[in-house]
Amino acid sequence: DKGGWSSFMAKEVSEQPDAVANTLRGRVSDSGVHIPELEALGDDVLAGITRIVVVGCGTAAYAGLVAKYAIEKWAGIPVEVELSHEFRYRDPVITRETLVISISQSGETMDTLMAVKYAGDAGARTISICNTQGATIPRESDAAIYTHAGPEVAVASTKAFVAQMTALYLFGLHLARVRGTLTNDEVAVELGELEAIPAKLTTVLETGGSVRQLAHWMADTRAVLFLGRHVGFPVALEGALKLKELAYIHAEGFAAGELKHGPIALIEPGQPVFVIVPSPSRSALLHAKVVSNIQEIRARGARVIAIAEQGDAAVLPFADEVIPIPLAAPLFEPFLAVVPLQLFAMELSLAKGLDVDQPRNLAKSVTVE
Ligand code: F6R
Repeated sequence: DKGGWSSFMAKEVSEQPDAVANTLRGRVSDSGVHIPELEALGDDVLAGITRIVVVGCGTAAYAGLVAKYAIEKWAGIPVEVELSHEFRYRDPVITRETLVISISQSGETMDTLMAVKYAGDAGARTISICNTQGATIPRESDAAIYTHAGPEVAVASTKAFVAQMTALYLFGLHLARVRGTLTNDEVAVELGELEAIPAKLTTVLETGGSVRQLAHWMADTRAVLFLGRHVGFPVALEGALKLKELAYIHAEGFAAGELKHGPIALIEPGQPVFVIVPSPSRSALLHAKVVSNIQEIRARGARVIAIAEQGDAAVLPFADEVIPIPLAAPLFEPFLAVVPLQLFAMELSLAKGLDVDQPRNLAKSVTVE
């Protein structure tokens, strides 16, 4: 049931504040973060972990890439993110002290299931982040942290992505407490940021109208580039994936710092480039670097659409469009910055008259390797 929305995609994008709030519910209290599901593994086991490998495919892998920045910062433990199908068919180094976290909305993705089985057989501890109660991947794992995004029907993943990041951030804070790398007060600050996300998401969703206009202007665009830095980099990858899936447009996401190492050769007059701009107030250094990237591509004729913090005056002279997002601590920006990119892909799909819920050639759950 689309509940009055024109598509499941539109409905699910709009449900993102609830997806985050429901995934937090019952796991945050005055005394900090509490994830009962992790008792299956035990805090002593978590304290002894020396390395984390996150596996997933597509959007799930990008949620893992975002969380890598947070978990390494908070828990001081190396985190690698690998596509499930690549992990499974090489000879990854796995020990009893390796924790493999799988991410899967459906919990049935065969590539990810095989990676989890492989990791378990090799002696790793396994945790599943999953949105589907009782699915195969959580059953194959030592512990499962469920996201509570509600059923996701549209083939392209949206609300599951923000719910996955929420669950991973909660896990990172739990791990930081267990390992003693953050004080209770520091954990409380980060939890406060997380709890503020649903209201900020509601604000970002209000940018839908301006994104729709943008999509209409760009309906015959042939290629779109996405640039981001730090946690904005995986958001750029996700923005490009959404556009490929929904609007069948060639799209690439790049780390902004990589521009001069090759991708800048793609910039020609009129080339649309979305740039996810870090907060000027909270990450001044990265902000300056990304603004300088914007100047470089603008000088070569790029059409720049900046996703930037509300009131960021530095981007105004160089951007053709600015889509504002509310202020958030740097690690929390992906929750907000991804929304205009989801909306853009959806609106462009609609502007081209495509089926936004069921893009061609794709299945919601990929149960073959
Ligand atoms: C992207 C998308 C896919 C899935 C991927 C993993 O919009 O839908 O990239 O994210 O197939 O699916 P799950 O999370 O079910 O394992």
